[in-house]
Amino acid sequence: MATIIDGKLLAKKLNEDTKTNVNKMKKQGVIPCLAVIIVGNDQASKRYVRSKHKKAEQLGIKSIVKELPEETTETELLKVLNEYNHNNDINAILIQSPLPKHINEKYIMGQINPKKDVDGFQIINSGKLFLNEAENYPVACTPKGIMKMLNEYNIELVGKKAVVIGRSTIVGRPMAALLINAGAEVSVINHYANVSDYTKNADIIVSATGKLHTVTKNDVKQGATIIDVGQNLDETGKLVGDVDYQEVYEIAGYITPVPGGVGPMTISTLMTQTVELTKWSDSL
Ligand code: GUN
Repeated sequence: MATIIDGKLLAKKLNEDTKTNVNKMKKQGVIPCLAVIIVGNDQASKRYVRSKHKKAEQLGIKSIVKELPEETTETELLKVLNEYNHNNDINAILIQSPLPKHINEKYIMGQINPKKDVDGFQIINSGKLFLNEAENYPVACTPKGIMKMLNEYNIELVGKKAVVIGRSTIVGRPMAALLINAGAEVSVINHYANVSDYTKNADIIVSATGKLHTVTKNDVKQGATIIDVGQNLDETGKLVGDVDYQEVYEIAGYITPVPGGVGPMTISTLMTQTVELTKWSDSL
């Protein structure tokens, strides 16, 4: 039976630290500010943005949420973004993905001021991650939160075999880079692969496909660490991950639950990174 990696508990601790940090900054006259831009009516995105806003306010971070209608043009969105890029009161900018189809998401994400790029998706910050630069720069919040969980549970990475399932900008690619930088031997696979061929010998599996049953008990080696980024609804409408949790739990060494695993860590990392961007820009 696996040890459950309690993302909810770790996120709570990190949020308490963030709140303390924010209070100290406020005493020096600095209030970290996160601006989130959401375009359109995607209900899951709206839910995520509401939780980000709520958490920021709980921690004393100023939160701006700009909701733009589905028919917003790329030019109109750029105008808002440029305003935020140049507004000295805003330290961190997040444009909620996915954007409506008529907007070139890659292009828009590339226009975020790299010093305010709280997602770390901007080309300069992605490049620094890829090159394993030592300086301070933002990194995608979900993979960065996962690294904090692995560290908290003292999970060895050097020389270990890690498999990342999914190659998205938000999770798969930055996750692979962080694991490579930490000394793991990393395979990145997608839906064309036979998952088991790769995962059967893996010490660490990160699944970020958004598909039920991506990882089953037949895909996992005894004692492996299983990180489940998926947020899916099962046949009964219950929130579950990509991993067949109950059966994999019996074999794994460590496993993240859904809910209560990766999700809360993403938000808490977004908050710490907002504070970090503020500190880096103000050289506090
Ligand atoms: N949509 C789902 N997850 C994320 C995220 O981490 N950042 C952004 N910008 N959009 C998302």
